[in-house]
Amino acid sequence: MRIGIIGAMDEEIALYMEAMEQTTKTVKAGITYYAGVMEGKEVVLCKSGVGKVNAAVTTQILIDTFQVERVIFTGVAGAVHPDLNIGDIVVSTDCIQHDIDVSPLGFAPGQIPFTEQWIWSADQDLIQQAIDAGKELDAGIQVVSGRILSGDQFVASREKVQWLHEQFQAHCTEMEGASVGQVCAMNGVPFVVVRSMSDKADGSAHVNFAEFTKLASERSYAIVRNMLKATSQDAGVIVYSTKNCVDCNLVKEWLKAKGISFEVRDVMTSRAYQEEVERFGFMGVPVTVVGDKAVKGYAPSELEELVGSK
Ligand code: ADE
Repeated sequence: MRIGIIGAMDEEIALYMEAMEQTTKTVKAGITYYAGVMEGKEVVLCKSGVGKVNAAVTTQILIDTFQVERVIFTGVAGAVHPDLNIGDIVVSTDCIQHDIDVSPLGFAPGQIPFTEQWIWSADQDLIQQAIDAGKELDAGIQVVSGRILSGDQFVASREKVQWLHEQFQAHCTEMEGASVGQVCAMNGVPFVVVRSMSDKADGSAHVNFAEFTKLASERSYAIVRNMLKATSQDAGVIVYSTKNCVDCNLVKEWLKAKGISFEVRDVMTSRAYQEEVERFGFMGVPVTVVGDKAVKGYAPSELEELVGSK
């Protein structure tokens, strides 16, 4: 499962850059994508730049060019819910563009005209993984799920923040999440946004943002890292194979005989699957994978060790 991870600013992706291994770099539409491995998971990391257009382009490229199957946005936000403090975490239940306003034509603020859909729901499994990952953070840091707003504006006024809360029942505001959510929904790719509060989007927001962005970025990173770690731990068995390969069938029969369930990835059907195999340093199939470990060919004693490590 390849996961796209997006941050808007250098601070938001810095710790991922340090943690990633086997990284390869590709530049597309002016954005640099780092494909590699983190906590045993295949990830593609990038800095989208600030704002909804940057985030939308970046997300579409992650999906089209890198075939990511999940997208996580990581970063900082301004708190909108009055109970939130700087450093607290919001995991998106859904996202709305708060700055789209066609109200003179009778549409609600935030509503995209001539369509029913303008609230972008995050994936339930990813939400749960993020909330669970948050349980490992220090007590005192609130980790809540709630609505995240996005707009092409840095919100820094008490009146505006109150309006956002009343109008949208939102938890926080930032500048990218809803466009990531929309692009993911348009492509059928599950997503979640994980934001830590750098400020309260009020009159002090610009000062607090400068002071707390590093801390807040570290907190979002901690959640996403824990999510990746947890999903690696319950990683299933994947058999990269082709239909008519004798050794592939031997591996599958061997797993079946042991009662071990597994996912088959036919490398003839997807360039992405071929690349996944190559990333383990192998050219042919079968390749059997659990987390970040792989066994080439039909080798029962090695397979025994591999599935034992699960
Ligand atoms: N990101 C962090 N704080 C923000 C704010 N107050 N407004 C918009 N985006 C933000």
